[in-house]
Amino acid sequence: MSVLSGKNILLGVTAGIAAYKTAHLVRLFIKAGAQVKVVMTPASKDFVTPLTLSTLSNNPVYSSFFEKGEEETEEWNSHVELGLWADYMLVAPATANTLAKMSNGVCDNLLLAVYLSAKCKVYFAPTMDLDMYKHPSTKKSIEKLQSFGNIFIAPSSGFLASGLEGEGRMEEPENIISFIEKDIVKGLPLYNKKVLITAGPTYEAIDPVRFIGNHSSGKMGFELAKRAANLGANVYLVTGPSNETVSNNLIHRINVISAEDMYNEVHKYYNLVDIAILSAAVADYKPKDVSDVKIKKSSDKMSIELIKTHDILASLGKEKKKQFLVGFALETNNELENAKKKLKAKNLDLIVLNSLNDTGAGFKKETNKVTIIDKLENISEFGVKSKAKVAKDIFNEILDGIYA
Ligand code: CTP
Repeated sequence: MSVLSGKNILLGVTAGIAAYKTAHLVRLFIKAGAQVKVVMTPASKDFVTPLTLSTLSNNPVYSSFFEKGEEETEEWNSHVELGLWADYMLVAPATANTLAKMSNGVCDNLLLAVYLSAKCKVYFAPTMDLDMYKHPSTKKSIEKLQSFGNIFIAPSSGFLASGLEGEGRMEEPENIISFIEKDIVKGLPLYNKKVLITAGPTYEAIDPVRFIGNHSSGKMGFELAKRAANLGANVYLVTGPSNETVSNNLIHRINVISAEDMYNEVHKYYNLVDIAILSAAVADYKPKDVSDVKIKKSSDKMSIELIKTHDILASLGKEKKKQFLVGFALETNNELENAKKKLKAKNLDLIVLNSLNDTGAGFKKETNKVTIIDKLENISEFGVKSKAKVAKDIFNEILDGIYA
């Protein structure tokens, strides 16, 4: 999944020949899962039609402050609303004329008014002939825009519309998209960080057809993995059997069955990571002996001898060096007290308490209700929320802990 997924992109198109490439640019943004609105300078409509960009973006295209309706009713296009709607603005192609106006606060068309109103990050991808690009006045405009915090996407060298060869070709749409994606990821709080997450139940075999398991769906752990990836982290998601799916290339899924498998996989990655969150519902006991063949029905009573599994979280607490370690506690009584004990005993930085007494919390539910306790025993209580929102709250606490 692209970091652009779900984002609002405002594309400003100006009058350069590369404007014909904006059709492809819009398609690539849509393919990445973004919503796109296009603002054009009046002259750019000679290079690419508003109908093309409107059809591809599934939105009206804006080019003037007023739209003349069929019955002479004039509708006002609010530059402020468009500017505030955008998560990111891209001016591509950006001509020498528009760059000069943007850098000097000139505001004589809708695109420039939107630019001045936008509070979001602005990218610009120039296009022009090589001598125009080399001109000190163009260089000054670019430097000035960069000093405002706008991000410059340098043109490439090659064959230009004038027939000359040199610098001034607008960067190719694919490269513009990947430039923006990388830039966004770099600005995320967990960029370059690695996060290990456990999720789901474990199955402890009795014989080839039976096991001891639990009702965990894995949903909470998967939501945590998605949130970590959205914050820019590389994620190792070690999960027991679960029907949940992931489609983010920052999430590396490792499937396991038993507590023993989970223990082994978790220890392979632990030394590499900055944060570990153990949300799996690991079996505390497993059958001492596993039969190779299906156990046949015989006497009226039967018992299975169980032995303890490894406590994975406790083992990570013992080995902890630089990692920020987060555990879960599922409790039915003396909730806070028991959670605090686990926090200390397992050497954690945070513990997320679920109480089975709370409505809306627990296994196989879409929602959860948690209380988070940190090392200093500060307690944050949250209401019933979707598991995606709970994941957000948990990461807010983790970020507070890491960047305190
Ligand atoms: N955990 C683990 N390995 C186990 C058991 C639990 O890593 N063998 C982790 C869970 O993923 C969770 C935390 O330990 O993050 C607490 O799990 P929980 O079942 O609430 O507590 P236990 O330590 O197993 O203690 P008890 O069942 O007695 O409450």
